[in-house]
Amino acid sequence: MDFVEQLKSQVDIVKTIGEYVRLKRVGSTPRYMGLCPFHTEKTPSFSVHSSHQFFKCFGCGVGGDVLKFVMEIERLSFVEALKLVAERNGIAMPKREYSDPESKLRGALTEMHELAAAAFQSNLMGPAGADARRYLASRGVTPEHTAEFGLGLSDAAGQQLTRQFESRFAAEQREQSGLVMKRQESSGFFDRFRGRLMFPIHNESGKIIGFGGRTLRPGDEPKYLNSPETALYRKSYVLYNLHRAKDAIRKSDYAVLVEGYMDVIGVHSAGVRNVVASCGTALTNTQVRALKRHSGRIVVNFDPDAAGANAAERSIQMLLDEGFQVRVLELEGDLDPDEYVKQHGADAYRARLEKAPSYFHWLADRARKKFDMRTVEGRIQGFKFVAPAIQRIADRLERFAVANDVANYLGVDEKLVRDHFSQGSAERRNVHHGPQVPPNERLLLNSLLGSEAARLEVIPPLSQMPVVERFVTKRIFQAIFAMHGDPAPFRFADLEGRLADADRDLLSAVIFADEVLEEEKAHEQASACLRTLQAEDPKSEVAALRAQIKAAEREGKLQEAIRLAEELDRRARTRSSTQV
Ligand code: CTP
Ligand code: MN
Repeated sequence: MDFVEQLKSQVDIVKTIGEYVRLKRVGSTPRYMGLCPFHTEKTPSFSVHSSHQFFKCFGCGVGGDVLKFVMEIERLSFVEALKLVAERNGIAMPKREYSDPESKLRGALTEMHELAAAAFQSNLMGPAGADARRYLASRGVTPEHTAEFGLGLSDAAGQQLTRQFESRFAAEQREQSGLVMKRQESSGFFDRFRGRLMFPIHNESGKIIGFGGRTLRPGDEPKYLNSPETALYRKSYVLYNLHRAKDAIRKSDYAVLVEGYMDVIGVHSAGVRNVVASCGTALTNTQVRALKRHSGRIVVNFDPDAAGANAAERSIQMLLDEGFQVRVLELEGDLDPDEYVKQHGADAYRARLEKAPSYFHWLADRARKKFDMRTVEGRIQGFKFVAPAIQRIADRLERFAVANDVANYLGVDEKLVRDHFSQGSAERRNVHHGPQVPPNERLLLNSLLGSEAARLEVIPPLSQMPVVERFVTKRIFQAIFAMHGDPAPFRFADLEGRLADADRDLLSAVIFADEVLEEEKAHEQASACLRTLQAEDPKSEVAALRAQIKAAEREGKLQEAIRLAEELDRRARTRSSTQV
């Protein structure tokens, strides 16, 4: 067995995918369902099959084995996915170099980021770090949190990484790291980050992929300097702190979204571990989806300043469109989360977090302040202020429920609300239909996939029967027949690999359609399917009829021969009409 097969046989696809997607087992079957991480959906169409070690989304069509999943979700090359899965499961990679240029580059970049983080940390701990340590203390960041978040200090002279990397990495790799920059006038390099407080940024699996660097001199611009986009760091995919927060997000079934690095550290130190940051920009679709894999509920706690409010507005829209239940935490006294925790303490922050109102109630509260709630007109204006947001809720039932709720809250007549929403907005929910496979083909295929004994008994006669030619799934059967001749043991992944895309979709539809039988039951079912097909096999019937006609003619039974010939004719006609 080659290494890839060996790895796949040792790794459980359900456990691996379960790290990224909340999966629910379907009854006591080997099937699991969840929300697809690759497209937006409200009802699960993403399936994982533990006995076939295969996943498929019937919404967007993506499917494959455990390595394909890791490649897609981590956006890695095949070799990198292989390495990551092996590493995570404590399986040693063979000595032989598995490598392609893409993974070589990313491997070098990863190493450079690890070296940089170590250098930054030791600078901060050393004599050069005294001022920076004092600064952290003044902002309430303890040495424990400094270590936990891997904070560091970049060399003020701008030569440290340049020197470290010089002899170890090729110039073009260094140039693509985002950590050192090429001089324009000469051939040398210099460090991008100089004398800044350094925040390492990790991907979801905990590897350092970039840095944010805060100036330590008040008024210095820019306040934050960040890594550029590199082969490792794709900004629109990354949320700061997600790798630390994801377990807590699942456990509490909600996330707290803040704006900055310091906010994350402040909120985390208040004992709230499910916190992530967007890093000062409005959320992207891909970031929202990364969150959605862990929970569909969120509290948005942005800065109260104008930029914060704008980012919040756009981010909240994005979250609502992706089906999140959004609550809003607005802290009094114009404080951002980090300052609030420092001034009022951890308990006060957690209390405010727990009481954060839903986005719609938060909007209604703003409306209450804006309009005169003592008059009918004021209340109606208030409702109209909130209405456009309600109108965007895709689910009709939910839209009505929220509308009634807000109407009550603002003291507006419910009938008015009904009128306002009776036109309703277009349903945006997509209903996905997989390809259709007739039940008999489905049952036969599933039982063949599930039992070696069934394959031994059924494949030889079945492969001779013309009826297979008319199956929707004929190419899947033909592939199984072809594999039956091979000495290698039957493997689902091999079958998959032999098929074109359309047939793969059919195969997925088949394996996720029926209950999965035990071997013995599968064998029985396969035999039963074969008998039914044989009984219906027009070839054997036609042959029998022809023989009877000949016999009748020989014996001079003309009436009988004509009746039989008519019967044959009728068969032929119904056959050709079912064939089209
Ligand atoms: N940010 C950035 N570049 C800037 C300013 C901000 O990338 N020039 C990002 C950083 O991720 C920062 C976040 O936006 O953490 C929020 O910005 P801001 O509120 O200005 O900073 P704080 O995180 O609050 O940092 P501090 O409290 O140290 O001022
Ligand atoms: Mn701040």
